[in-house]
Amino acid sequence: MSISLNAPEYVRHEGLKKWVAEIAAKTRPAKIVWCDGSQEEYDRLCAEMVQAGMLQKLNPAKRPNSYLARSSPDDVARVEDRTFICSEKEADAGPTNNWIAPAEMRAKLDELFDGAMQGRTLYVIPFSMGPLGSPIAQIGVELSDSPYVVVNMRMMTRMGKKVYDVLGSEGEFVPCIHTVGAPLAAGQADVVWPCNSTKYIVHFPETREIWSYGSGYGGNALLGKKCFALRIASTMGRSEADGKSPGWLAEHMLILGVEAPWGKKYHVAAAFPSACGKTNFAMLIPPAGLAQQGWKITTIGDDIAWIKPDAKGNLRAINPEAGYFGVAPGTNKSSNYNCMATLRQDTIFTNVALTDEGDVWWEGMTKEPPAHAIDWQGRDWTPELAKEKGVKAAHPNARFTVSATMNPVLDPEWDNPEGVVIDAFIFGGRRSTTVPLVTEARDWAEGVYMAATMGSETTAAAMGQQGVVRRDPFAMLPFCGYNMAEYFSHWLELGQHLEASGAKLPKIFCVNWFRTDENGKFVWPGFSENTRVLKWMLGRIEGEAAGREHVFGITPSYDDLDWAGMDFSLEKFLTITSIDADAWRKEFELHSELFDKLAAGLPQRLLAIKAEFEARLGN
Ligand code: OXD
Ligand code: MN
Repeated sequence: MSISLNAPEYVRHEGLKKWVAEIAAKTRPAKIVWCDGSQEEYDRLCAEMVQAGMLQKLNPAKRPNSYLARSSPDDVARVEDRTFICSEKEADAGPTNNWIAPAEMRAKLDELFDGAMQGRTLYVIPFSMGPLGSPIAQIGVELSDSPYVVVNMRMMTRMGKKVYDVLGSEGEFVPCIHTVGAPLAAGQADVVWPCNSTKYIVHFPETREIWSYGSGYGGNALLGKKCFALRIASTMGRSEADGKSPGWLAEHMLILGVEAPWGKKYHVAAAFPSACGKTNFAMLIPPAGLAQQGWKITTIGDDIAWIKPDAKGNLRAINPEAGYFGVAPGTNKSSNYNCMATLRQDTIFTNVALTDEGDVWWEGMTKEPPAHAIDWQGRDWTPELAKEKGVKAAHPNARFTVSATMNPVLDPEWDNPEGVVIDAFIFGGRRSTTVPLVTEARDWAEGVYMAATMGSETTAAAMGQQGVVRRDPFAMLPFCGYNMAEYFSHWLELGQHLEASGAKLPKIFCVNWFRTDENGKFVWPGFSENTRVLKWMLGRIEGEAAGREHVFGITPSYDDLDWAGMDFSLEKFLTITSIDADAWRKEFELHSELFDKLAAGLPQRLLAIKAEFEARLGN
C-alpha cells in the first residue's frame, strides 16, 4: 500500500517530492509530515513527546518553555568508529576517515533502511545552513523519523517553509536521511528513546548525500551540523577550488566579534576540538580590568564557520548554524555567564539531571550541588552517591539546545548574509604540557603547519577513551570529509592564491589554555582572562604589541600582556609559556607519525617547515 505524499502546495520542487516518495517507499513510515518550522508545530511536537515520555517539561516558573530529554545510555555521543566517508576512491577519504566502497555501503543501507520507519512518522525538514539566500549558505532537507530531531533542527538551523522560497522548483539541496532504526510493529508501544545498537553515519561526498542509521544523538542525528556543515561542506569548498577560484573552507570554528577601545571592530575565528571551550570563548566577558578600557566581545557562532574569499580577497565568514548545541557540564555563571543567561528559557536539555524543583542541574553548575536530584538515567542521585561511588548526575557530554537569538551578546552581524571579514585565526588544543599559552605564526604556511600538527587530549564528546593525546589537525579530525593531506594543501593553496592577488591574510595564532602544574591543576585561569591573549593578538595585527621570536613563532613576554586587574606571577607565566626542548623533540616524532600516515599527497611544504623548526630547536 503506498503512502500519501501529501506535499503542501508551497513545495514546488518535483525532484524533492520524488525523492521523499522514494525514501518513504523504502522506509515505509505510517505517515509523512512536511515541517513548516512554525512555533505551533514546535509546541505540538514537544507536547506529543511529553505525552510519549520522551521529553519532560521543566518547571515553567524556573525554566519557562524548556524540556529535558534522556537518551538511551548507549546513545550519548558521536560515534566516530561508525562514521564513514564513502567516496568512490578510498584515497579520497584518506587514512584518517573510515571508508567503505559506495556500492557495498549502499547495499548495506538498502537492507537497513528497508522498512526502518514502520510505525513512525517521516518528517520532511527543510533547512538552510547560513542566512537564507546568503551567497555562502546552502540548503539541505532532512528526512527523519525523530520528532526530537525536528525540534532541535528548528533551533539549530533556519528551518521551515521559508526555505522553499529559496529552493524554488529547481534549486539544489543536500539530501539527508535519518532513522532511529527502531521500527514499530502495529500496536507496539515505543521505548522512550528509540535507537539501535547498530549505527551508521554515512556520507557520499560525490553525490553529496548523508544517511544516518540507529542514533538519535545530536551530532549523529541533526544532520545539518557535523555531517553537512563540516564533512560534506568541506568537500564542497575544496571541489570549488580550481585555477581561478581558491574555493572555500568549512571549519570547526567559533566566530566572535571584538570591539577594541580604539573604536575598531575585529572578527576572529577559532578552532578547538569538541568540548574544549568554544562556546565559552565565543561568549566571553572581558575581565573588569579590560572591560573598563572598553573591550567588548560578541558572538557570531560557537561551533562552525563557513569561510569564503570575497571579490577583494577578504576572507568572509558566516555561522551556518542558528543555535547552540553545547556541552552543559562545567557551564556556570562564572565560567560562562552569557551562556547561563542564554539558557534561561526556551531550551531543550539532554542528559542533564532533574532537580526536585523541576529544574536542571549538572556538575559544575553551582558550587553547592542539590541535596537530591534525578540523574541523567532517571535514577535517584545525591552528592553522597557522587562522593562514594563517583556517580555523575549529568552525563559528561550532556547538552543544551537553544536558539542563537537567546544569547544576550549576539553580534548584530551574526545573520548578515555577506558574513564578516576574519582578521585572525586561532587554533587550540587541550594539552596539559608542552604547548605554550600563545604563539603567533610568522606566516600563513607556518600557521597551517601549527594547525595541522595540533594535538589534543580526548573528551566525552565522542565515544571512546578520554584524556589521551591524539593529533587533531585543525580540530577537524572527525569532521573532514576528504583526505586530510589534501585538506592541508587546500589551506596552503588558498593562502597562496589570496597572497598572489594582493590580499592581506588573517594572522594565525596557536593557543593552549590547559597547561597544568605538578599537581595536575590548571595554571592559567582561562575563561574571561583569555581576553588578555586576544588583546595581544589584535595588538600584533595593528603592529602595536611587542613579541619575542622563538623556535616556532612569536610569543609575548610577561610585560607584553595587559595584566590590569589580574594577579598572575611571572613564575606562573613562565610555567605556561616555557618551551621544553626534549618534550618538543618527542612532539616532532608525533608530527612525523601523522605525516607518515598522511604521506600520500602530503604537501612537501609542511615537511620543509618541520625540518626548519627542528633545525632551530637543535639536537
Ligand atoms: C559538537 C562536537 O557537538 O564537536 O559540537 O562534538
Ligand atoms: Mn563541535
